[in-house]
Amino acid sequence: MEKLIVKGGTRLEGTIPISGCKNAVLPIAVAAAILGDGVSVLHNVPNLTDVNTLRAVLEGLGATTKLKNSTLYIEPINHLEYEAPYELVRKMRASIYVLGPLVAKLGKAKVSFPGGCAIGPRPIDLHIRGLEHLGAEVTVQRGYIYAQAERLTGTEMYLMGQYGPSVGATANIMMAATLAEGTTVIRGAAREPHVSDLAHFLNAMGADIEGIGTSVLTIHGVKHLHGTEHTVISDDIEAGTFMVAGAITRGDVYVQGIIEQQLPAVSEKLVEAGVALDWDANGVRVTTPREIRGIDVTTAPFPGFPTDMQAQIMGMLCLAAGTSVISENVHTDRFIHAAELNRMGADIMLDGSKAVINGVRSLSGAPVMASDLRAGAVLVAAGMAAVGETVVSRVYHIDRGYESIEQKLNDIGANITRVSD
Ligand code: UD1
Repeated sequence: MEKLIVKGGTRLEGTIPISGCKNAVLPIAVAAAILGDGVSVLHNVPNLTDVNTLRAVLEGLGATTKLKNSTLYIEPINHLEYEAPYELVRKMRASIYVLGPLVAKLGKAKVSFPGGCAIGPRPIDLHIRGLEHLGAEVTVQRGYIYAQAERLTGTEMYLMGQYGPSVGATANIMMAATLAEGTTVIRGAAREPHVSDLAHFLNAMGADIEGIGTSVLTIHGVKHLHGTEHTVISDDIEAGTFMVAGAITRGDVYVQGIIEQQLPAVSEKLVEAGVALDWDANGVRVTTPREIRGIDVTTAPFPGFPTDMQAQIMGMLCLAAGTSVISENVHTDRFIHAAELNRMGADIMLDGSKAVINGVRSLSGAPVMASDLRAGAVLVAAGMAAVGETVVSRVYHIDRGYESIEQKLNDIGANITRVSD
């Protein structure tokens, strides 16, 4: 297994480019492979483990894919398989995205029930409920979800759960509804930029979706979707991570290829903490002229503060003056990184879905373990700001969602080496 050795005390200075958005690519690739009747070409696709895991799922279903120089070619085939097996789905929860499109296209699907993960149990009741609203019969047997419907039928539905809208369920049901008979209205839809990017892609394939970017999506069903060409939006979470990395190392970093509208809450909170952000049309310059102050952060669905940035901002607040409180309202027990940051000298106390962070003057390098993708990213960022050497193990989590992370950071002043055991 690989590890990252992060030498502390470095200051980031320079321009760091942002790759395509992982969470947009995943459903878009599914739509291209299952719903489209012809080849799709996707640009700005990051070369990530998650993208390659999804390609394996899609190839298992009968599609052909090729990823070269950030362009992903997807050729759907006529005789799709309708089964996504456990061995593939267990590697990545987002494989559940094939459920809705398979039922819409083939009339049936058999998809392994995704397991839990390091950020909590993560149910899929809304995905199932949404498909049932569209007229599918859904059963769960021996670890598999079976869904079938001769043709899905449009309807009105409310798709919010106890934690608010669901990105995954919105994407899944929106994809399924594109080929349903009649009109579907999804109330309580997720509004994340990657959900909108998927909707724009589907419309480019010939779908008819209105209300993109709002919580009410209206999808007029069509008979066929065709292949198309699309440039995937930039990854807001990668950008936010590098903004925090710039701030935590008190650097001067230009994060290139991101727009402010993708990161409203993160920008607001960084500024509240004393980080200076200078936005232009292509990106943002991040500097930290003053001491970072403690702030309170509550995660919420877009346009709220993203749960996928919670670990990173916690890392920054460990070195802030005063006390900060983070309330995690989306994945309520997503705090495994707190214990690892405490191993580096942070002072974080957990109380249910809240973390209380008392700022400390410095962190010290330590051996730490990435427990999930974003938890891994914060350990790298904290390691750069710490005194001494930090060894981050389980780097495969980081590689799921950050393209060439050590290369990008080393290019602007970090000192990170990848080693194998
Ligand atoms: C997506 C992102 C993930 C991010 C999350 C929230 C992808 C591939 N992953 O995950 O990085 O952390 O959005 O922004 O895009 N829920 C239910 N029932 C369901 C589905 C979800 O109760 O059927 C709950 C979840 O447990 C969670 C909340 O709703 O508390 C939001 O989850 P959801 O938006 O669905 O997350 P994912 O799509 O799995």
